[in-house]
Amino acid sequence: MELTHIEHLGIAVKSIAECLPYYEGVLGLKCLKIEEVADQKVKTAFFKIGQTKLELLEPTSPDSTIAKFIEKKGEGIHHIAFATPDVQACLDEVSAKEVQLIDKAPRRGADGMDIAFLHPKSTCHVLTELCMPGKK
Ligand code: CO
Repeated sequence: MELTHIEHLGIAVKSIAECLPYYEGVLGLKCLKIEEVADQKVKTAFFKIGQTKLELLEPTSPDSTIAKFIEKKGEGIHHIAFATPDVQACLDEVSAKEVQLIDKAPRRGADGMDIAFLHPKSTCHVLTELCMPGKK
């Protein structure tokens, strides 16, 4: 399967605002945008370093999957996202290898990307996202 680079790391945080002094003030990264993804019940903030981004994920509701993650595991790295030119082709390929999918088909995520998640049970316990720029 064709993966080109790490597109982003998803990091679960309780408050994006409280993290800005670290990412901007200490690391000197620039916040590219803050975007709410209503159907995921998260607010996201993106920083870019090389061709990789950091995606901070703040829950906007207690029943958000990010809220549940923070409750269970605490704040920290939530997922790794690989860029691929063809998310659906990757899904077809890994499901033939018995990998459990969270998304059977790509859906629209933050930052205009088409995304799909693989289940951590099948990925050595790292929640794994495949993504590609979505067609407008
Ligand atoms: Co992501």
